Amino acid sequence: MSNSMWGGRFTGSPASIMEEINASIDVDRKLYRQDIAASRAHAEMLGRQGIIGADDAEKLKAGLDEVLREIEAGTFTFSREREDIHLNVESRLTEIVGEAGKRLHTGRSRNDQVATDFRLWVRDAVDRILPEIAALQLALAERAVETAAMVMPGFTHLQTAQPVTFGHHMLAYVEMLSRDRGRFVDARKRLNESPLGSAALAGTPFPIDRHATAAALGFDRPMANSLDGVSDRDFAVEALSAASLCAIHLSRLGEELVLWCSAQFGFVRLSDAFTTGSSIMPQKRNPDAAELIRAKAGRIVGALTSLLIVLKGLPLAYQKDLQDDKAPTFEAMETLSLSLAAMTGMIRDLAPDAARMRAAAGLAFSTATDLADWLVRVLGLPFREAHHVTGRIVARAEALGVTLDALPLAEMQEVEGRITADVFGVLSVESSVASRTSYGGTAPANVLREAKAWVERLGTQGAGKGA
Ligand code: ARG
Repeated sequence: MSNSMWGGRFTGSPASIMEEINASIDVDRKLYRQDIAASRAHAEMLGRQGIIGADDAEKLKAGLDEVLREIEAGTFTFSREREDIHLNVESRLTEIVGEAGKRLHTGRSRNDQVATDFRLWVRDAVDRILPEIAALQLALAERAVETAAMVMPGFTHLQTAQPVTFGHHMLAYVEMLSRDRGRFVDARKRLNESPLGSAALAGTPFPIDRHATAAALGFDRPMANSLDGVSDRDFAVEALSAASLCAIHLSRLGEELVLWCSAQFGFVRLSDAFTTGSSIMPQKRNPDAAELIRAKAGRIVGALTSLLIVLKGLPLAYQKDLQDDKAPTFEAMETLSLSLAAMTGMIRDLAPDAARMRAAAGLAFSTATDLADWLVRVLGLPFREAHHVTGRIVARAEALGVTLDALPLAEMQEVEGRITADVFGVLSVESSVASRTSYGGTAPANVLREAKAWVERLGTQGAGKGA
C-alpha cells in the first residue's frame, strides 16, 4: 500500500530498509509541542484569512489540543510508517477531526514546518539553559564571598606561580559563564524569526499572513526569504557553538576539581552526593561527575562539528540531510543542561581545605615576584635587575632548603647589601594577595566586592535572560 500522505504517484511501498533510514520519528517526536503550537498558529491564520472555513479552523485547533493531550498522557501511538512528527500529528488529527484535518497543510510544507518547530525547540532550550548557567554562576559567586580571602596557589604551566585566593578563582569562572550567557542571548536574538509560510521553498499563492503566525509563536518577525527560511540551520549552529564554549569552560573547571580533590593536591573535598566509590578499593572517593562533565564537552563539540558538516555541501533549498540536524542538537543541549546541574551541585557542596591550600600556596617560592617588586619599589632597582637579584636569592633559599620568608636577612644581604628587614613584610602569602589591589586583581578586598556584586546581580536577576 502506498503512503497516504504522499503516495499519490506511487504504486509500491518503500523497502523496509528505506523506512529504517528515512523515518525520523524516534528522534523528532521531541518536537511534538512545538509542532502542535505551530500547526495551531497556522490553522488559526488560515481561518482568519478565509483560506479555510472558520468552522474548520476551530475543529483543527480543538483536534490539535486533543493530540497534545494524548501525547502528554502517553496514549498516542507514534508510527514509523508515518515518518516524522509532522505526519504523525497530522494523521492522528485527521482521524480525530475528519475532513478538516486534510485542510491543515494548505499553504505550508513540512520544510517550513520542521524549520519552525526546530527553531522553537532551540529557542526553548536556550531559555532553559540561560537560568541554569545563572544558577551555576550564583553558586560560584556565593562560594567566592565565603572564600574571598582564602589563599591558594595560583599556577602557570601547572607550576606554582603566585598566591591567589580561592574566591578569585571561583569568580574567574563566573566571568566565563557570563560571556557564555551573552553568546546564548545573542544567538537567541538572531534565531527569533519565523520560517513558517516559506512553504516548500518558494512561498505560496495563498493569501497567508506570515506576520500573524510569527507573532502567535513569539517570533519577532517572519524570515524575509523563503529559500533561506527552509534551508539554513545557522541558528542551531550558533546555539551549539555557544554550548560548546560553555561545555569547554565546564570541562576546565571539572579538570580542576579532579586535580584538587586528589590526595596530592587535597585542596577540596567533594560531597558524598557527587562522588562514587570503587568496587575493589574501599578507600576510594572518585570525582566521577567532574570527569563526566569533562568527557561530555567532547560530545557537545562533536555535535557542533556534526551539524556544520551536514550543512557544508548543501545547495539551496531543503535537502533531506537536514533531517540529521536534530539528533546532535537535542543531545548536546540536553547534555549541557545535565552538566550545568551537576557542576552546580558540586560547587554548592564542595568543602575547600583552607589549611592545605595555604600551605601549598607558600611552596616553591611563590612570593618571589613580591620580593622583586619590593626591590623595585624600595631600592629603585630596574625590574630586570630586581628579577636577577631575586633569582639569586631564591637559589640561596633553595640550597638551604627554606622558604623565602624563612631565609635569614644576612643571606639576602649577601646578594644585595641594601635589603632591610622591611622586606619580610611582603614575603608572606597573605601580604602577597593583599597587595594585588590593581583592578581585577586577587586582593581579598577586591574579590569580596566583586563576589558580592555578582551575588546581588544574579540574585535580583533570578532566572533573567541578561548576561
Ligand atoms: N523529517 C523531515 C526533517 O526533519 C521533515 C521535512 C521533510 N520534508 C520533505 N520534503 N521530505 O527534516
